[in-house]
Parts: sequence; structure tokens; C-alpha cells
Amino acid sequence: MIKTFFATLAGSLIALAMPFAVAEPIVIKFAHVVTDDTPKGRGALQFQKLVQERLAGQVKVEVYPNSSLVGDADELDALRSNKVQLLAPSVSKLNALAKPLRVYDLPFLFDNIEAVKRFQRRDKSRELLGSLVSHNITGLGYWNNGGRQLSATREIHTPADLKGLTFRVESSEVLAAYYQQLGAEAVKLPFAQVYDALRTGKVQGAENPWSNLLGQKINSVQPYIVEDNHSFLTYMLITNTTFWNGLPFQIRSELEAILDEVTQSVNRDAEAINAKARERVVAANTSRILVPTPAEREAWRTAVAPLLKRYESEVGSDVLRAAEAANRR
Ligand code: LMR
Repeated sequence: MIKTFFATLAGSLIALAMPFAVAEPIVIKFAHVVTDDTPKGRGALQFQKLVQERLAGQVKVEVYPNSSLVGDADELDALRSNKVQLLAPSVSKLNALAKPLRVYDLPFLFDNIEAVKRFQRRDKSRELLGSLVSHNITGLGYWNNGGRQLSATREIHTPADLKGLTFRVESSEVLAAYYQQLGAEAVKLPFAQVYDALRTGKVQGAENPWSNLLGQKINSVQPYIVEDNHSFLTYMLITNTTFWNGLPFQIRSELEAILDEVTQSVNRDAEAINAKARERVVAANTSRILVPTPAEREAWRTAVAPLLKRYESEVGSDVLRAAEAANRR
């Protein structure tokens, strides 16, 4: 009798303790396609570290860089089926789903990264974080990398110099239209294939910020780099809406606070990371860096100006005007 009583008591105590003893942390898989030593790579690791410090035992972040879990071709499906919970793709890879996001791909629209950041803080751009909800995707913030620099196997000064070359672009119609407008060819390829496509001659050119140029050793297969910042590589940090909204309120609030902190540091440090990467590309001495003169830059801008008109109705005049206004502060 007494034995049974103690057995029952012990059983009840164990049962009571169980939910706490065996509760597994919520796992957030954060997958991306670049190296750890890039603005996005560092941001992902900083997020992992802060979550470990502030939500230990409750949330565990796993980071998968370099397309090691999923890549450009399958990452959105993986997010929507909750196989991964966080991604930070270039907005260029999302703009087939939400056309106003094409604003970020329009060439020579933003004068510099500061203008991009100003635009991102304003209402029109904040609203675009919600532009993917019908796909069960929620935008949590913008992380910046840097200006896209043109690279090629040949010296380039004018749009005419592009004739006959094929450039790798991200999966964006606008980025492809840029090269077509200039009389060149464009091929959309996943990021993981860029280096090989350049090495084997499948394409002769590409466009990347310095951190990605260095991270993928693109300079080792591109003897010329034109530092033209013709557009800026911006990421949208995205999650699965059902997953995110289903998180316990307190955990979600803490994660949002951490993400805000990480977003600020990614956007503060991105320029310095790219400047350092540029120094390393210069030191590697693999490529000649060509800085367009003001007149050369104007010739490029004029040649591609029709794209702004062509995409205005998809982007929305209000969004386009807000982006232009960000150049003027
Ligand atoms: C690219 O495909 O060139 C970039 O979007 C890669 C990245 O995530 O920086």
C-alpha cells in the first residue's frame, strides 16, 4: 500500500517535472548563400550568439552558410514548408512575387548606400516588408550588403564595351533587362554557380559587392572590375508567417528585439566590411579596378534611363518617388 503510494507520488512528481525537464528548445534554421565573413554571414552569427545569450534553452539558432542546407533554387520552398525558418535573400530574388520590390534593382536610382538606408527607414519601404504575406512570408527587416560592381574579362568604359558579353545576374527580370538594354546578354544563375560559370567561360561578367567578389574569389577570374555601384545589394530578412506568428509572444518579442539590434549593426558595419574586402582585392592584384569618370557614369545612366520608365507602373509611382526623394534626404 505504502509502496504503491510512493510509486504514485514519484510518478506524479516526474510527470510534473517532465514538461520542464524535456521541453526542447525551438529551433530556428537560418540558411544563406554567402560566406561567414560578409555582412549577412556576420549578421547571422551575431543573431545566433545573442539568442544563445538571451534565450538559452528556449530557442536554438542553427546557421547554414554557403548554400550548405538550401540555396537560391530551393530556399523559398524550404521556408514556406517550414524546413528553414529564416532567410535573408537579396530582394532581387523576391521581386517576381512582389513587383514593387523591383525598385531596389533599378539602375542608378540611389546615389549611395546612405540613400538606400534612408529609403528603408521610410513608410513606403517599411510597407514592402508586408508585401509577401499572401505567400505566407513575413519580412522582418532589411540588411544591406553594398554597391554592385561590374566585373568582366575585358576592359569596360562605355556601354558599347559590353557588346558580345554575357553577364550572370540574380533571378530578377530588372537585373537582366539592365544588360539587355546595354546590348549585352544576361543569364540568371544561382549564387553558388557564379564562380564556376565565370571560370569555365559560360559567362564573361558579373555584378557583385566587394564582400561577395572576395568571398567567391570572383576577382581571380575577372581581370577587370568597374567600380560603378550601379545598384545596391539589399536583403530582406524573411520568415515563415505561420511559424513566426505561432511563437509564444514573449519569445517572439525578444527575437524581434534581437533582430532589431542585429539589423542595426549589419547596416552600420556593411560599408566597412566591403571597404576591407576591396582592400584585399586590391592587394591580391588579380584585377584592374576601373573607376568611371563623371562623364562615363552619365553615359551609363542615360543609356539605362528608359528602364525607370518601363518599370514605373510595376514598382508604383509612389514607391519610385519615395526612393528618389531619399537621395535628397
Ligand atoms: C547573389 O546572388 O549575387 C547575391 O544575392 C548573393 C547574396 O546573398 O549576397
